[in-house]
Amino acid sequence: MNQRNDLKHRLLAQARKRQRPRDAAAASPSMPESPESAPPGAGAVSRVPERFTRFDAHPGYQQIRMLREGADRLGLTDPFFKVHDGNAGATSRIDGREVINFASYNYLGLSGNPRVTRAGQEALAHYGSSVSASRVVSGERPIHRELERAIAAAYRVDDAVAFVSGHATNVSTLGYLLGPRDLVIHDAYIHNSLLVGAQLSGAKRISFPHNDPAALDALLTRHRGQFERVLVVIEGLYSMDGDVPDLPRFIDIKRRHQAWLMVDEAHSFGVLGDHALGLREYFGVPAEDVDIWMGTMSKSLAGCGGYIAGCTALVETLRYLAPGFLYSVGMPAQVAAPSLTALQLMQQEPERARALHAISRYFLEQARERGFDTGDSIGAAVVPIIVGSSPLAARLSHDLFERGINVQPILHPAVPEKSARLRFFLSCEHTREQIDQTLDALTAAT
Ligand SMILES: Cc1ncc(COP(=O)(O)O)c(C=O)c1O
Repeated sequence: MNQRNDLKHRLLAQARKRQRPRDAAAASPSMPESPESAPPGAGAVSRVPERFTRFDAHPGYQQIRMLREGADRLGLTDPFFKVHDGNAGATSRIDGREVINFASYNYLGLSGNPRVTRAGQEALAHYGSSVSASRVVSGERPIHRELERAIAAAYRVDDAVAFVSGHATNVSTLGYLLGPRDLVIHDAYIHNSLLVGAQLSGAKRISFPHNDPAALDALLTRHRGQFERVLVVIEGLYSMDGDVPDLPRFIDIKRRHQAWLMVDEAHSFGVLGDHALGLREYFGVPAEDVDIWMGTMSKSLAGCGGYIAGCTALVETLRYLAPGFLYSVGMPAQVAAPSLTALQLMQQEPERARALHAISRYFLEQARERGFDTGDSIGAAVVPIIVGSSPLAARLSHDLFERGINVQPILHPAVPEKSARLRFFLSCEHTREQIDQTLDALTAAT
């Protein structure tokens, strides 16, 4: 058995062992399984099985413990919640040590940029630390509209609306726009926030195989007629794989089936295109061909929050009615202002995007040359190295960290076990020397 399989088997065996006592306890007579099996006359409270009343019996907590204990036995440190001591860019400080960093989506190096930082400091001094209300009822500040107008201008659409969280943007937008008579049809690799939004909406949800427009077309041919509104959801750059959708084909399909098309540009805006303006620029399509452009401020825009950009009716509807906007506090000015400055710098300094493209391509080529499996990555900011087992990915991340390189392992269930990987986020500030050093270290560790 090779080392990779050996590790996997040891982890699985430990996981199975851990599960047995829990199963046995659940079946024990002292812990009734259902209200029906409770002794007659017992009160409702005493009849509830303990596993429904204890947080430490929750399946999520059990899963975390299993993972931790498995990692402990193999002498691996927990790869999650690593504490960075300062700004995280191409390098970072973790545990008092400088590391080459591939785990942050500071793609254009704008978090930590002095002008971006100053914009936040000035906004904080001027507006205070909170806008202290929902924007609808007195939380509105000029910086909000400045940011939204700049995003709309970058997309060449009517308007945009900024939410306090990227995740909440998707949850609220899908949750509000669609209902039980509607259909959300989405790429199988879509982000959790979109799935949660679709669930909240009560719409029927169908997924199509990743990046397969023909499959989408066939599904729409079969199902379109049964629904009122239909929303097709794809991403601009898939964050686990670094690949892109064939946007013109998706536009053609959504038109023929009279559906809306939503593109989540969390990882593509600020990355793709000569001016980093995203998937629209990458394919040279008119902005209005996509009905809903979504993006986040948390990646290239060096801040926090999400936006929806599109036609006036869409943006106005969300601004007045989307629950995550209406019933939530407005974005603090010191968060909005840095993203506005980052957006301006991104457009004034296209050399940042050029450097990001060049270093990402270099990483991809060098990784392939060394025989690593980079999947379908196009070599733009996100490059996975697929290692095929969660324990191996965890071990490689640990070994690289020991050698001063910080890269996140992506483990099952985030991806299927056979495609467990290390995921490298590139920044325009990475150097060729850092890439060579990293890939050499990875070669030595495998
Ligand atoms: C595709 C996609 N959409 C939405 C989000 C949520 O954005 P945020 O982390 O800014 O809340 C993420 C997060 O990384 C993402 O990858």
